[in-house]
Amino acid sequence: MNCFIVEGGHTLKGKIEVRGAKNSMLPIMAAAILNSSKQEIVLENIPDIGDMHMKKTILQSLGLQVSYNDHMLNIGSPELSCFTIPAALMKEMRSSIIIMGPVLARLGRVKVTYPGGCSIGPRPIDLHLKGLEALGARIWEEKGYIVASTSGLRGTEIHLDYPSVGATENLMMAAVLASGNTVIYNAAREPEIVDLQNFLNAMGAKVRGAGTETLRIRGVDALGCCRYRIIPDRIVAGTYLMAGAITGGQVTVEGIIPSHLDAVVAKMQEAGVILKVDEENISVLGGRLRGVETLRTLPYPGFPTDLQSPMMALLTVAAGRSKIVESVFEARFKHVEELKRMHARISVEGRTALLEGGSLRGAVVTATDLRAGAALVLAGLTAEGMTVVKEIKHIDRGYERLDLALNRLGAKIKRSMEEESKIPDRQQNVNGKMIKTNDLPSYLV
Ligand code: UD1
Repeated sequence: MNCFIVEGGHTLKGKIEVRGAKNSMLPIMAAAILNSSKQEIVLENIPDIGDMHMKKTILQSLGLQVSYNDHMLNIGSPELSCFTIPAALMKEMRSSIIIMGPVLARLGRVKVTYPGGCSIGPRPIDLHLKGLEALGARIWEEKGYIVASTSGLRGTEIHLDYPSVGATENLMMAAVLASGNTVIYNAAREPEIVDLQNFLNAMGAKVRGAGTETLRIRGVDALGCCRYRIIPDRIVAGTYLMAGAITGGQVTVEGIIPSHLDAVVAKMQEAGVILKVDEENISVLGGRLRGVETLRTLPYPGFPTDLQSPMMALLTVAAGRSKIVESVFEARFKHVEELKRMHARISVEGRTALLEGGSLRGAVVTATDLRAGAALVLAGLTAEGMTVVKEIKHIDRGYERLDLALNRLGAKIKRSMEEESKIPDRQQNVNGKMIKTNDLPSYLV
């Protein structure tokens, strides 16, 4: 059981670079299945995170040759030999579902279970399945597995009821090898969709329209290899900016595409953060934090749901009131109870959270999902005393050594590998008692 011990009160200062986007890398790794040439796909700027290793294992289970070295992935796929993804691997990550489209397109058959992933509320896959059926797949359930089969996918028109990121990606990857033309209406417009389009086209596909709500795909007979560099991770970039802001520090996040963060920059500015936006960097220069009237998460180009919890951490210490509406996922407020352990003043009704800014105190808290975990680390940076964040395996799924990255900016975060039983009981700080360094067993500090 790994945990982070965060010592609050250190101001962050300096420059930090961001690696490739997890949410681009995962579909692009799946798209590598479509390569039927003898040469390998080479992916650059790949973060060393848990989800990458898990996806690598999934691809290997299908017979692909995958190796990772120094932020580079080599994927050879002419030997694709298996169309079943083991249930144990499927439940490890949500994005395993987007394997369906490319495997079906290449082998005409695929067998998966319902996917796992972060616990951020119900995450149905109806749009994925309806779209694949529209492309000519027959889909049924068999002993807990979802099986899809086709004698050949055919281009068609698909109207998504919601611009789901995963469904758009899955259907793009199926349609590139379908016969004829496919049009996907109400497609997701996230930068990661544009990245996937660029990657598929580099393999020889004919996709256009990514970044708008209509995608047009002309099917081709086969796709080949390419070398490709993944776009920088806008969610990690936003997390670092908020980390700088929550400590009243000065942090420059480098090597990013600032326009991907327009909605985030606007909301942080509304919260009083002074930001400087350059061609490839964004800097936090300080500012006095104040509450925001309403922060509503939305599909891109709106404020990303993945930064809702880190932004909530920031607003718990901003003067005055704030309102946050989570409109993308039904139950993405699990971090609220944890932030309340740190004396945050938050009440939730349905999809709305109301906050009253104040100061935070260190506590023992649990990362309930990836971004919630990042939010708790941010809260710990500004809290009085020590914060212990448990279940950091969730954080490691999507951030490459968040502890070391923030420590390079001046944070004091220690990764402890102690067993859970040795970590102080979370109840000990419920009744207003703050954890101080000497409350923690010596091996933790
Ligand atoms: C992706 C991201 C995730 C991000 C999310 C929204 C990856 C690996 N993950 O997740 O980090 O938080 O986009 O930006 O890229 N829905 C349905 N039926 C479906 C599919 C989705 O009702 O078949 C609903 C979901 O329940 C949710 C909403 O659509 O309420 C958005 O989900 P979606 O865009 O599909 O998110 P993911 O692709 O799972």
